[in-house]
Amino acid sequence: MDLQLKNKKVLVMGASTGIGRSIAEVLVQEGAEVAICSRSLDKLQKTAKEIGAKHVFTCDLTKAGEGKSVVEKAIKEMGGVDILVTNTGGPNKGNFADVSDSQWQEDFQSLWMSVVESLKAALPKMKENNYGRVLLVTSLAAKEPLNGLTTSNGLRAGLAGLSKSIANEYAPFGITINLLLPGYTATDRLKELKLTDERIKQMVPAGRLGDPRELADLAAFLASPRAGYITGQSILIDGGVTRGY
Ligand SMILES: NC(=O)c1ccc[n+]([C@@H]2O[C@H](COP(=O)([O-])OP(=O)(O)OC[C@H]3O[C@@H](n4cnc5c(N)ncnc54)[C@H](OP(=O)(O)O)[C@@H]3O)[C@@H](O)[C@H]2O)c1
Repeated sequence: MDLQLKNKKVLVMGASTGIGRSIAEVLVQEGAEVAICSRSLDKLQKTAKEIGAKHVFTCDLTKAGEGKSVVEKAIKEMGGVDILVTNTGGPNKGNFADVSDSQWQEDFQSLWMSVVESLKAALPKMKENNYGRVLLVTSLAAKEPLNGLTTSNGLRAGLAGLSKSIANEYAPFGITINLLLPGYTATDRLKELKLTDERIKQMVPAGRLGDPRELADLAAFLASPRAGYITGQSILIDGGVTRGY
């Protein structure tokens, strides 16, 4: 299937490694012009070389204004952003009683405001062009809370509501917005959890971790003109972990 992604202008955030990197790589392979961003210039340059991304921008999405400024830089450099993928590092850990107000503020900036800022910066131009695709990488925690990830459980669930508002307001302009909810996916972040094979089999009906490429393939379809009638959806890529409807 031709996804008609050739020469589409893409910004993938949090894309030096892991899920973001895989999404960027698949979109490059589909012929898109891809910009990637994250905190580390060294990692970005290495990744850009390996996957063929054309532009790199540093940003720290825990800081106010960085989501907005990185989208503005991408629009300036590429002449627009047709496809925006928001993604960033995982949240801080902590049960509710342990989460300080400053940790709430940091995770709110990183998981929520950076998304709002980047949407505000990207949507006007997409609207002008009568075309846009927005993908928000969140987590299965948005549907099924994970122990010890209180801020993620709370903030990420809210993004589903935000996406419904945007889907409603921007569908008439050829713009779709969808959420990708990864389950246990084989990235550096997950390696830190040191899950045993036995534990993975207990938790995941598919009996294995997800490959970031499996999520990225779906991202490429949703980012394509072919997915124009799918908007406001939260899609789990979790090997069957989440049992609810
Ligand atoms: N892997 C899983 O099993 C899983 C499951 C559910 C949800 N998720 C969520 O999916 C997202 C991506 O996870 P991943 O597994 O791909 O993680 P990862 O391999 O650690 O990659 C995170 C990416 O985000 C960048 N990043 C981290 N902090 C940043 C910041 N403050 N500002 C800008 N960029 C930042 C990192 O690059 P730099 O270090 O260069 O900044 C890196 O490119 C996370 O939000 C995670 O919570 C992952």
